Amino acid sequence: MILPMVAEGLRFAAGDVGIIHGIDLTLRAGGPTLVVGPNGAGKSVLLRLLHGLLRPTGGAVRWALPEEAARRRQAMVFQRPVMLRRSVLANAEYPLRLAGLDPGRAMAALERVGLAALAARPARRLSGGEQQRLALARAWAMGPAVLFLDEPTASLDPAATRQVEAIIAAIAGQGTKVVMTTHDLGQARRLAEEVVLLVAGRVNAVGRAPDFFERPPSAEAAAFLRGDLLW
Ligand SMILES: Nc1ncnc2c1ncn2[C@@H]1O[C@H](COP(=O)(O)OP(=O)(O)O)[C@@H](O)[C@H]1O
Ligand SMILES: [Mg+2]
Repeated sequence: MILPMVAEGLRFAAGDVGIIHGIDLTLRAGGPTLVVGPNGAGKSVLLRLLHGLLRPTGGAVRWALPEEAARRRQAMVFQRPVMLRRSVLANAEYPLRLAGLDPGRAMAALERVGLAALAARPARRLSGGEQQRLALARAWAMGPAVLFLDEPTASLDPAATRQVEAIIAAIAGQGTKVVMTTHDLGQARRLAEEVVLLVAGRVNAVGRAPDFFERPPSAEAAAFLRGDLLW
């Protein structure tokens, strides 16, 4: 089991500009953890630190498995997915082949996200919502224990957003721990089991949904939920 993940004293600075200022955070098995907070709070940087794409300048991220094993059990999907200049199916097969897994899992994943009929299309011709569903299928096919999603619907319209949210809920429902950033509070309400509020590079509040929304655990959480700007 890869979880719990414990981040202790996590810091990140770019040059002499501090971005993440000493975060302690535990991720446990269960439903989705949604990281919310104002623009520039450090949500994307935090996700990259937890996933190991950025090396912290202080503190550490520890998984319940050794680092290499933990890395193999995680996947990440970004706001704007990168598509190979190949078919939809080839895009879904590629990481499976790299990892020595059965590429036959790709087609099943495409079926689960409603893209089986488009398997032969060039991936770069898909709409934004279809590309994001392909990115989720590609990650899901790997069978990750933990899936990091950084603003996966930020560039999508409401209909495509709902389709992507349904896929995320299905992935979480099959036991993958979803850790996701969003600036969309409605989305956080729809998906979260746990909410982490990040403000100016620090964890301001952590709570379970729907408690977090009904009884905001800090003044900043209440202000953020009201839509007041926070810095
Ligand atoms: N690699 C980097 N180098 C320098 N500054 C960065 C880097 N990545 C992010 N930042 C800065 O760190 C802050 C937090 O960024 P980010 O994590 O993208 O915020 P959020 O995702 O919450 O909107 C921003 O001020 C951003 O400009
Ligand atoms: Mg971001």
